[in-house]
Amino acid sequence: MAVTGLIMIGFLLMHMYGNLKAFIGAEAFDHYAGWLKGATDDGGILYPIMPAGTFIWVFRFVLVLAVILHFWSAVTLWSTSNKAAGRSYERKKTMARTYSARTMRWGGLIVAAFLIFHLLHFTITPSAFHPDPSSAYAMIVNSFSKPWMVAIYAICMVLVCMHIRHGFWSAFATLGLNMSSRSRAILNGLAYFVAVVLYVGFMVMPLAVLFGWIG
Ligand code: HEM
Repeated sequence: MAVTGLIMIGFLLMHMYGNLKAFIGAEAFDHYAGWLKGATDDGGILYPIMPAGTFIWVFRFVLVLAVILHFWSAVTLWSTSNKAAGRSYERKKTMARTYSARTMRWGGLIVAAFLIFHLLHFTITPSAFHPDPSSAYAMIVNSFSKPWMVAIYAICMVLVCMHIRHGFWSAFATLGLNMSSRSRAILNGLAYFVAVVLYVGFMVMPLAVLFGWIG
């Protein structure tokens, strides 16, 4: 769970940074989207190390594998902890755990549902949602000029970032970085920092479109 989770957090940091290119303008954003898919004149990302258009598929393969392994680890962990608990406790006392920590399972399923919606929205069936699916910039302007769509993303991103806050902490704890109270405090601070950076970094672009700062 730790390794696949960290791979996905790495992807999200890159995705967030890439989305900020919308502030440079339509041409820059569309060029970036095309470059990732190997559709630009220069052959795109990692050309000529890989043939044009290959990187995106390698990248997608790694991400899909990470999602599958993450889910599989969650199910295994879930059934192991159920078996270990045996019969139900005489007394159940909630320990000092944060809201995110207590909702990792349901939170994870909601994040997965958001991801399915998000991929249909922009990648798999963009023509069902957008009049001009050939331009990533036109798609974001079409989406985020609607307040209800920004609201959906704003709510989903709260759940995504809560999941990441606890997941980041948990991943580094699994890798042994919570061995002293000082390292626990640093790790906790870092987990909040990454979650807030992702929330603000992702939401600033939809909000900028909504308020007409870009578009
Ligand atoms: C406010 C938040 C977000 C915005 C505005 C956003 C925007 C976008 C846009 C515009 C695309 C299409 C790019 C293109 O066609 O070139 C895209 C693709 C994608 N997004 Fe997001 N995204 C957000 C959050 C997320 C989150 C939280 C995840 C993961 C949980 C995610 C995962 C993906 C994936 C996997 C793709 C497809 C990449 C591919 O083509 O292989 N996004 N996103």
